[in-house]
Amino acid sequence: MIPTKTLKNGVEMPYLGLGVYKMTEPEVALQAMVKALEVGYRAIDTAALYNNETEVGEAIRQSNVPREEIFVTTKVWNSDQGYDETLRAFETSLKKLGLEYVDLYLTHWPVQGKFVDTYRAIERLYEEKLIRVPGVSNHHIHHLEKVFAKANVKPMVNQVELQPYLAQEELRAFCKEHDIAVTAWSPLGQGKVLEDAVITEIAQQLGKSTAQVILRWHYQNDVITIPKSVTPSRIEQNMQIFDFELSKEQMEQMNQLNKNQRFGSNPDNFDF
Ligand code: A2P
Repeated sequence: MIPTKTLKNGVEMPYLGLGVYKMTEPEVALQAMVKALEVGYRAIDTAALYNNETEVGEAIRQSNVPREEIFVTTKVWNSDQGYDETLRAFETSLKKLGLEYVDLYLTHWPVQGKFVDTYRAIERLYEEKLIRVPGVSNHHIHHLEKVFAKANVKPMVNQVELQPYLAQEELRAFCKEHDIAVTAWSPLGQGKVLEDAVITEIAQQLGKSTAQVILRWHYQNDVITIPKSVTPSRIEQNMQIFDFELSKEQMEQMNQLNKNQRFGSNPDNFDF
């Protein structure tokens, strides 16, 4: 069983889900999602951009896992931002998913001049009970503050790039203060931190893989993760992180790897 985090409104969100970014090959995507649900994943993180919402819905139906036991996240893409545009984009996503509601709906990136209205539309979807949790993605503190100024209900999740070389300590502290759960996208640094010498050493001490050590580090920092993999053995391996622990010293060693290094775009100079 994957443990869940209780969000501000009482909704339970699994601490680990399958990320499906770059799973554009429909058959590959479907097979990975079905595999994940089969081995016990109960969360899938997609986006309109990923072009696989149809497969997410299909995987849920094929899995025979009751819909209400699965936590589905999707996001409104940048070109669809704005109040009315977001409401329309949501309808399209819902149709592709073939679902009656989405668990978590996010502004994908804070598009200048549009992300506050986008969030207001997400708030409306929340009031209408078409989504269970309103949230944002790739928001820095200054973006969150702009959203707070216009929102009745603050975002309950912020999904950002977060991995051992980009620990996001300040943002995490701010989110904690405002009861916003943090989700890490590319929690394994797109696979680019798996060879790190310190992490390799800790993995050897524990008899685990470096991916498992990193995912466990996130969990012990109270961060939700959505590792992406299309490889059945890795999909299975990545959820086996709840039966061991990093010591205080190992956590400290991991925390010291931060060098504010992004592998993805910076929300402040994203090429919108
Ligand atoms: P693949 O999909 O071919 O299995 P992130 O979620 O940080 O973006 O990382 C995703 C990348 O890491 C993918 O290239 C994925 O490869 C790879 N990956 C995922 N899990 C593991 C694992 N347990 N061991 C090694 N590589 C992994």
